[in-house]
Amino acid sequence: MRTSAYTGPLPVRLPDGSRLELGTATASYQIEGAVAEDGRGPSIWDTFTERPGAVRDASSGETACDSYHRWREDADLVAGLGVEWYRFSIAWPRVVPAGTGAVEPRGLDYYDRLVDGLLERGVKPTATLYHWDLPQPLEDAGGWLVRETAEAFADYAAVVAERLGDRVGAWATLNEPWCAAYLGYAAGVHAPGRREGGAAHRAAHHLMLGHALAAERLRAAGPCDVGVVLNLAPIWPETTGEAGADAVTDAIDALRNRVWLDPLVDGAYDEGLLAVAPELGDTDLVHPGDLEAVQGSADWVGLNYYTPVRPTPAAGGAAHPEGGAYPGAPAFDLVVREPITDIGWEIDASGLEELVRTTAERTGLPVLVMENGAAMADAKVADNVVDGVVDDQDRVAYLSDHLAATRAARDAGADVRAYVVWTLLDNFEWAEGYTKTFGLVHIDSSDQARTPKASYHWVAEVAREARG
Ligand code: FCB
Repeated sequence: MRTSAYTGPLPVRLPDGSRLELGTATASYQIEGAVAEDGRGPSIWDTFTERPGAVRDASSGETACDSYHRWREDADLVAGLGVEWYRFSIAWPRVVPAGTGAVEPRGLDYYDRLVDGLLERGVKPTATLYHWDLPQPLEDAGGWLVRETAEAFADYAAVVAERLGDRVGAWATLNEPWCAAYLGYAAGVHAPGRREGGAAHRAAHHLMLGHALAAERLRAAGPCDVGVVLNLAPIWPETTGEAGADAVTDAIDALRNRVWLDPLVDGAYDEGLLAVAPELGDTDLVHPGDLEAVQGSADWVGLNYYTPVRPTPAAGGAAHPEGGAYPGAPAFDLVVREPITDIGWEIDASGLEELVRTTAERTGLPVLVMENGAAMADAKVADNVVDGVVDDQDRVAYLSDHLAATRAARDAGADVRAYVVWTLLDNFEWAEGYTKTFGLVHIDSSDQARTPKASYHWVAEVAREARG
């Protein structure tokens, strides 16, 4: 199995908790480009981005940050930050282009080189197996609405573990299954862009089943720590006591939080959730043993946090556009309070502190903050660029407050072990295209030149202090 020149300590696993480790994250489709190179098959994002109107600036990940070719430079940037972790994702269609069957060795070689390159630079590689780039042939066969996709995911996980499991010991199976299931199959604003209403609950179940089956295969390949990365949210009802308000709050909490945590912790879908998502009670969908397989299947829980959710019943049926992402929930609106980032998301670091504490309590598992960061206007505002460097003090303030919130949760006793910044590079931000920038590093789209922003230097300073 081993092809690597790396001879350091193996494997890299979950931080031991003695201190908070720092990192930064990216995702394959958002940075790699090279979508037709070295045998990579098409993914649902290649297809979806061709649909008129799907992406704000009609762009795609075809070139993105060209990290497929420039990964050495990007690994240098991570090393220059001085953080412990680089969380990257593996593109399923590079490794198993048709989703099942033949393995593409050149795809595996790419991640092999990347993992070695990180280790040589003293960075721990942490891999996510699914950050939304489903092979298109699997979508054509039903996508996450069918059970076979979960089974195919486990087979792909085994292939990757066989090749990289000696050096990657901390695995994230899925990134944000809420987005994959509900933005993808209910709201239709992410790939594959389907509006299937309650059928999207089938995707939610198959995603968590896929996580559990993949976790089994990863563990069978060798010692490792396996987790799942969830975009759970603190739900802060804007209205209470009014008719329908509690039902709205409960439905949103059910679909955003409990649909993932309940099977993971209790091995069951709770009654309130089943009332919103009766599909999850269907025995054709949930086979005997499924929920037991999911229960206890994670060694840690990853949290991606950006903003709190403040629901209120929709006045006169004027429902929020995101309403489609909560099939079965009563009509609601979402209130967003100032201040907000450039993508319109409310800034409130106390939401992260609350979420870390409640998730640690609910699961009893170590928590890793696997994404947190801010879209800021950056170079769009001329005054923000000083001597050719983006002086993103607004992002520095966001990160500083959220890191402090993570530390506060830790001080309050929550077992939180890592804080990972989203993201290293300005990149393809899904349905927003290249219009929203979250990066610590600015990219000039004309020549792909990478220039660290003030926030990059700030993270580097924090990492230096943390190492002592
Ligand atoms: C998360 C995604 C990540 C990025 C950030 C802004 O939902 O996991 O890829 O788009 O939001």
